[in-house]
Amino acid sequence: MSNHSQFKKIISHAKEYGYIFPSSEIYEGLSAVYDYGQQGVLLKNNIKEYWWKSMVQLNENIVGLDSAILMHPTTWKASGHVDAFNDPLIDNKDSNKRYRADVLVEDYVAKLEHKIEKELNKASKRFGESFDKKQFLSTSHRVIEYKKKSELIISRLSKSLENEDFDDVRKLIEELEIRCPISGTKNWSDVKQFNLMFGTKIGASAESTTELYLRPETAQGIFVNYLNVQKTSRMKIPFGIAQIGKAFRNEIIARQFIFRMREFEQMEMQFFIPPGTQKIWYKQWKEKRLNWHLSLGLGDDNYRFHDHEKLAHYADAACDIEFKFPFGFKELEGIHSRTDFDLSNHEKFSGKKLKYFDTEKNESYTPFVLETSIGLDRMFLAILSNSLKEETLNDGSQRTVLSIPAILAPIKVAVLPLVNKDGLPEIAINIFNKLKLDFNSSYDHKDAIGRRYRRQDALGTPFCITVDHQTLVDQTITVRYRDTMNQERISLKDVSKKIQSEVSFKNWIKKV
Ligand code: GAP
Repeated sequence: MSNHSQFKKIISHAKEYGYIFPSSEIYEGLSAVYDYGQQGVLLKNNIKEYWWKSMVQLNENIVGLDSAILMHPTTWKASGHVDAFNDPLIDNKDSNKRYRADVLVEDYVAKLEHKIEKELNKASKRFGESFDKKQFLSTSHRVIEYKKKSELIISRLSKSLENEDFDDVRKLIEELEIRCPISGTKNWSDVKQFNLMFGTKIGASAESTTELYLRPETAQGIFVNYLNVQKTSRMKIPFGIAQIGKAFRNEIIARQFIFRMREFEQMEMQFFIPPGTQKIWYKQWKEKRLNWHLSLGLGDDNYRFHDHEKLAHYADAACDIEFKFPFGFKELEGIHSRTDFDLSNHEKFSGKKLKYFDTEKNESYTPFVLETSIGLDRMFLAILSNSLKEETLNDGSQRTVLSIPAILAPIKVAVLPLVNKDGLPEIAINIFNKLKLDFNSSYDHKDAIGRRYRRQDALGTPFCITVDHQTLVDQTITVRYRDTMNQERISLKDVSKKIQSEVSFKNWIKKV
């Protein structure tokens, strides 16, 4: 299956099984806005919990916060978002479609990377067992040429963006002969800057109205509260504040499903540190965050770091953890060394002291900040796209399986009576009523057992408990494992313990 058709399959599966619906669909939807259905909301909550526990519960020097979406408008002047939170846009004059100029170039580079992968696949088939990937990558003329070209393009794009040389960005698009996907022409406008914040208003009358913004990141709610939290929690630097919440951006490229949304959620953590120690903490948090991702078992090769050449207005170092989505490696999480940019500016704009008094050093300073920022919806997409598989079984039949890590699966266990008679449903309902006290569980007695297994596979339920006639005799049931389809007979009294050990936070996180 091509990457494009795999991606289409993911989108339709997400809808069919209650994970994601287009927003206000009966009115033809709203571009780049989505709703999470009955399965989706559970998966989303489980991702949040896994992140929150890893951040707040496991780190005695990190506490949580839930700050408001609406903030005083000066916040966004101080943070630099009013002046610098822009995307470079370009219009195609024939289709009248607007694009992000940098993304047009990045998509071109992604095609080169795709060509490298194709070369790799071809060579690996040709050489079979003896294929040496490393050697091939460093010796194949074609691969070297594609790599060199990609690097040159990215480096030129970064430089032009950094210098705000938008004429050169346009020139680059022309030189690469990039065409509009709609009109197919190269008839481009100049590149212009466009601010991504959504504006709104507060107040009942024209005179009392104040112009506000919907927050474009959750981080600023943490910055303006850092002293409140530090004093009331009696935290000493280094310490962190974690927050999960909605953010809004008027994104121009409304595609790639939930990868780039206009309303989305972030899971951010600001770690407050002494000035001058940012390099040490940057390295530590890069490692910690990658390990967190690896603990979920989505495949070590699906992650890579991308160090930023063009730094955001607030950072002195930054990188992305990229994930291999169906449309290539793309940013999943950002790790930013934000210096004292935000706190110093909030001091300046508010006129309030935001310095920390370090009792050990007996001095006051404005802390530096190390930030980890992950998009919840992107994490959702990473899991969904990695989990959806079409398998051909030994008997030649097909099955669709959503192998979501058990700790994150929306429904952990389905209880199924083999047949809907002979007293089996009563026992199954009894088991279900006990299990639901500890886990999100479901009960299903309709259809043949094979069809029910397939439905649970497609929903992503990792365990099915089947009650059969032997249960009546010896109080045992079978546990069927979604990923292997293996079945194991265990005693009824051990069921809860078994599921517990498979979905325990302790067991998953200790893999790190
Ligand atoms: N506070 C820093 C910050 O907001 P960012 O790199 O702009 O940094 C952090 O965003 C993360 O938020 C990204 O790595 C991505 O996962 C997610 N994100 C950003 N824009 C998004 C969008 N339009 N839709 C979905 N997720 C988005």
